[in-house]
Amino acid sequence: MEGKLRLAKKNLNISLKQKPASFQTSSPELTEMLGMKLAKWIKKHRVGCVVFLGPFGSGKTTMIRGVIKGLTGLNNITSPSFTIVNQYAKGKMNVYHFDFYRIKNATELESFGFSEYIDSGLLLIEWPEVAMEKIPPKSLKVTMEFLGLKRRKITIGFI
Ligand SMILES: Nc1ncnc2c1ncn2[C@@H]1O[C@H](COP(=O)(O)OP(=O)(O)O)[C@@H](O)[C@H]1O
Ligand SMILES: [Mg+2]
Repeated sequence: MEGKLRLAKKNLNISLKQKPASFQTSSPELTEMLGMKLAKWIKKHRVGCVVFLGPFGSGKTTMIRGVIKGLTGLNNITSPSFTIVNQYAKGKMNVYHFDFYRIKNATELESFGFSEYIDSGLLLIEWPEVAMEKIPPKSLKVTMEFLGLKRRKITIGFI
């Protein structure tokens, strides 16, 4: 409950001039809720791409679930770790959820055809390290860290 309160009080006031905003969540539900808040911000500021950094189990997919839910209302968001990309569309909103864990280098990324996705929808990317040279400027960066079994530190800023 304490975590919920803290999250509810905090606004996502990120701007290019400000330093990154930092949050803590104490459950997957709260991380998903933060994702939904981020969705509002993405829409308002017309963000084209968000990369998610953090180790396995830190909550990247969980937070992205909230972002996609917030933008499209869809509820069946699964990890694209085997498919590399999942697409979600609702009205004019087109979202691509990538997981580049299995992509080894720039050549593999090229043959996957990543460049063609840029500017064709919102890009949400897990394990973006291999794609950093292709990430458009003014993208957002979400960094997720373990603070405990259920506690995560989530930092949101520009790349
Ligand atoms: N505060 C939290 N935020 C996000 N996930 C959490 C949290 N606490 C526990 N978890 C658990 O951690 C795991 C996160 O998994 P996932 O979102 O798939 O991570 P990743 O995509 O970074 O590998 C889930 O099993 C989730 O239930
Ligand atoms: Mg994941």
